[in-house]
Amino acid sequence: MNFSAKEVKKDFPIFKDSNLVYLDNAATTQKPQAVLDAVESLYKEANANVHRALYSLGSDATERFENSRKKVANFIGAPSKEIIFTSGTTESINLLARTLGDTLNSGDEILISEMEHHSNIVPWQMAAKRTGASLKYIPITESGELELENADFNIKTKIVSLTHMSNVLGTINPIEELSKRAHEVGAIMIVDGAQGVPHMAVNVKDLGCDFYAFSGHKMLAPTGIGVLWGKTEHLEEMDPFMGGGEMIDIVSMESSTWNEIPYKFEAGTPNFAQAVGLGAAIDYLEKIGMDEIQNHEKVITQYAYNALNQIGGLKIYGSAKERGGVISFNVDGIHPYDLAQFLNEDNIAIRVGHHCAQPLLKTLGETATARMSFYIYNDELDVDKFCASLETIKGYF
Ligand SMILES: Cc1ncc(COP(=O)(O)O)c(C=O)c1O
Repeated sequence: MNFSAKEVKKDFPIFKDSNLVYLDNAATTQKPQAVLDAVESLYKEANANVHRALYSLGSDATERFENSRKKVANFIGAPSKEIIFTSGTTESINLLARTLGDTLNSGDEILISEMEHHSNIVPWQMAAKRTGASLKYIPITESGELELENADFNIKTKIVSLTHMSNVLGTINPIEELSKRAHEVGAIMIVDGAQGVPHMAVNVKDLGCDFYAFSGHKMLAPTGIGVLWGKTEHLEEMDPFMGGGEMIDIVSMESSTWNEIPYKFEAGTPNFAQAVGLGAAIDYLEKIGMDEIQNHEKVITQYAYNALNQIGGLKIYGSAKERGGVISFNVDGIHPYDLAQFLNEDNIAIRVGHHCAQPLLKTLGETATARMSFYIYNDELDVDKFCASLETIKGYF
């Protein structure tokens, strides 16, 4: 397929008859008609609770739900039984912090980095507090890359949890190498893939990690659905996260036994309609091709970089060699909140603030930045409109 962001945009109802310039894709992405149709069709034609009903409607819903699991599994190169549906990356990491995290002891270490999102910091802080383990951070360099020579992998390290791509700096971390280093010291390697799998081809076996977490809404799917992939050997060993329906085998008044994986980790009615939406989103992304998507984002990001540099009077954060479609910046003399409000007058949506990464912002010496982040429907025209608006705003100040 010949990729054209302009053509892709036509598949997204939100852009129809609108001059919206949407540059906040690291926060959430817009939804193509195919995803909306898949969810609507589930509700209109096959709405029944999954894994419970013996009637046809229930089998249809279950089949659509389980088909989505297969699509997710194929998409990341894993068997279906290793795909746990969660509500998103945040829940996936909390699941790990509550299960694996609670097996830690005082003296054990959890290793994360200074560029993590709060959802890959706070659950580990809570686990450390519960168990007496300590939380260590890999520092970052001037260019916004992990300072690998000062990464403290040691025999006390039991869990390493790192982002695939920074939602602030755009840095793509060398996960294969990090997985090797984690395994050399006998630690478990977890990847926060919220900004990974939506933007590049991911094969969890090639990455060499033990767990990989991501959110559907950042890859065209509905909100409320996410994934935790984990290796069978770990999932079999781990205790369940939440208790309730579906995750059990036998329940007596005194105790319970657990269902097989992945259901052991899916207590209660799952977000099956949203999961079906995720399956449709994966179909849509696969039709374009993940390499094509990553390449498009590289081109548009470079175009935006050049355009911003031409405008001048800006500070851009992060200049890693391996990077994705995120640019964080501040404009001299304009507070990012003012910038966002003025851009909004021109129907241009960017994110400003700490991006749920307050420790990183502190390292950068800022309390807030502006951020533009791209996806498959953004084209050069979006960047041109942004730059024209920015030039006008600079004129006011
Ligand atoms: C790197 C990263 N990790 C985790 C998250 C949390 O994702 P969610 O809010 O979908 O759980 C985000 C969301 O912005 C993110 O960018």
